[in-house]
Amino acid sequence: MADPKTYTATCSAPVNIAVIKYWGKRDTSLILPTNDSLSVTLDQDHLRSVTTASASAAFEAGDRLWLNGIEEQIKDSKRLLACIQECRKVRKSREEADASLAKMSDLPLHICSENNFPTAAGLASSASGFAALVATLASLYSLQPTLSTSDLSRIARQGSGSACRSLFGGFVAWQSGTSPDGSDSLAVEVAPKSHWPSLQALICVVSDAKKGTPSTAGMQQSVATSPLLQHRIKNVVPGRMVEMGKAVQAKDFDLFAEVTMNDSNNFHACALDTSPPIFYMNDTSRAIVQLIEEYNRSSIEETGKRRVAYTYDAGPNAVLYAEEKEVPTVLALVRHYFPNADFDDTFNLLGAGANASHRGAQAPAELPSGLPKTFNKDIIQVHQPGSVRRLIHTRVGDGPRTLHKAADADNVGDEKESLVGPDGLPLRLQRAKRV
Ligand code: DP6
Repeated sequence: MADPKTYTATCSAPVNIAVIKYWGKRDTSLILPTNDSLSVTLDQDHLRSVTTASASAAFEAGDRLWLNGIEEQIKDSKRLLACIQECRKVRKSREEADASLAKMSDLPLHICSENNFPTAAGLASSASGFAALVATLASLYSLQPTLSTSDLSRIARQGSGSACRSLFGGFVAWQSGTSPDGSDSLAVEVAPKSHWPSLQALICVVSDAKKGTPSTAGMQQSVATSPLLQHRIKNVVPGRMVEMGKAVQAKDFDLFAEVTMNDSNNFHACALDTSPPIFYMNDTSRAIVQLIEEYNRSSIEETGKRRVAYTYDAGPNAVLYAEEKEVPTVLALVRHYFPNADFDDTFNLLGAGANASHRGAQAPAELPSGLPKTFNKDIIQVHQPGSVRRLIHTRVGDGPRTLHKAADADNVGDEKESLVGPDGLPLRLQRAKRV
């Protein structure tokens, strides 16, 4: 007889932003990259994906999945199938080896996943989404400690390459590996969040009407056509991984910033070297580069050190990294040159209370005092209000968290975190229906 219990787990997982970029696959089906990469995990208190997975014999229609309340067909996604099948397979072999374990690997699954940030913000959600899916199935099936976090990252990698790095907090390397079966292509922790907790990020969400080339397609176009990408893979990234490792270990922000910006520019040069060329950055993105370069130039003249790093993924948004003490000045600079950005004031820098949000028209932001003496205020013009749409201030964060786990009446964590109701359907839809 089938197990009559319903098993449920809910986990959250963070976003990560690479400072040495992953761009190119040597195996598109297993998602094996052409180079190593390294990222900073951002705080889930501000940006996260949450997933609930529920297993029950009562789910007669088999496995089902809802993303932000909308049902997706699991069978249409090789990536979803790979992550679910891998986790199930490990659970099944554990059940076969240990008769005392509940037989849940064959039970149908209902999975609900949500992001707390609007996809419209232009932030990639696949990394946190697949990391949350794998962390949740690992929690549901109690796969750890049989599987290590790096083992789980190998599964999440098959959902989306960058997702493997969201299985860890702090500073994370994805080792590309050499094995054709992908067994050594996994994420490892370079340093935990506690190593450098003062590192913060200011995400500048840039307005952009057109839909860009998705990274999955863009990177394979680069692999097929860009000679510069081949140079990057062989001659640029290996040295940069070593330099970045040193910068993180020594908490050397100046070196961290130099390597981060060089790598972002090299990646975007490879996009431009692709045939046909791919443009991810727009005029606003480039103006932010000019502003930060001038700020760093004048700062180096005064103190010998850079104060901010910019990096851009496959889109126009800038992610600025800076030490906590530098952020108020960076924020004031950005708000001066790019007025009216909606701002989530999570660290109460503007004094209206933590988590205050500033929406729409705002008083002009003066240039901050204490800028380096030779800073050229005319380096860029004050832009059209709203050309930076939104600013999100966050910091380095930890890895996935289990928010709730239950087998019928046995509850651990907060049941309110669950996205699946007792009937096995998404609570979000039921909440929406009630409104
Ligand atoms: C520019 O991980 O989204 O953000 O593996 O095809 O899902 P797939 O691609 P994805 O690519 C991310 C590319 C990047 C750089 C990075 O995050 O390292």
